[in-house]
Order: sequence, then C-alpha cells, then structure tokens
Amino acid sequence: MSAPPESFHHIRIEPQGWEFSSQAGQTLLLAALQAGYRLPHSCRNGSCRACMTRLLEGRIDYQVEWPGLLREEKEEGWILPCVACARSDLRLEAPQAAALHSEASPGTLAPTPSPAPVDKSVHSLPIDAPSD
Ligand code: FES
Repeated sequence: MSAPPESFHHIRIEPQGWEFSSQAGQTLLLAALQAGYRLPHSCRNGSCRACMTRLLEGRIDYQVEWPGLLREEKEEGWILPCVACARSDLRLEAPQAAALHSEASPGTLAPTPSPAPVDKSVHSLPIDAPSD
C-alpha cells in the first residue's frame, strides 16, 4: 500500500506576481521563506502581528486557536501567515515582501543567508584595570 500523495497549494504574492507552492500543514511564512521570499515577520507564533497580510483569494486555517487578529480585521481579509496554512490556492497582497535571491523561483528551496561576519576587534578590547 502506498502513501497518499502530498497536498500542495499554489500561492501568489501580489503585486510582485511571485509564485510558490505550500505543502499541506506548512505555514505560509515558512513556504514563502523556503521558496526564497521574505514576508515581514517576528514572533512566528501569531501574537506580534508583524506579518499581517491581506488574503485576496482563497481559504486558510490556523495552527493556533486564537491568532492575534480582531474580528473586524479577519472580515477585512487580514491574516497572519506565520500561523496560517493554505486550504486552497491563494493570492496574498504583500507589497513589503522581498525576494531573498534574484534567482528565487517557485518551489525552489532557497539557501539560508550567511550570518554577518563576527567583528573580532570587539572581543579583543583591553579591559582597563580599576584605578585607586
Ligand atoms: S510573526 Fe508575529 S504574528 Fe506573525
């Protein structure tokens, strides 16, 4: 007996027109990052609201019971991609999204950006002896 095929949904970010796939159970934020697109975010747990994005088309559900949105915001189409999963193909309005790499393409696993080099001069500063 073979396992059922994975379920994917098609995600489009407007106004840039970038497209990628989201795997079943994967948050929109993680799917975007893996495809090479950075959506604004901070806490990743649905509380800080840094990732608020408009859902233009499609259906989502949340991994948390109480995402940090007001009822009115939900009615206006605002979602929190850090804890939202696609339940259909989606169109999101995220003008502040950024491509992590110019060659980012749908379904591409983007390499993790390298950390900034460590400034070793900070670690070798002389410590003044207390003066009496
Ligand atoms: S990153 Fe904080 S609510 Fe989404």
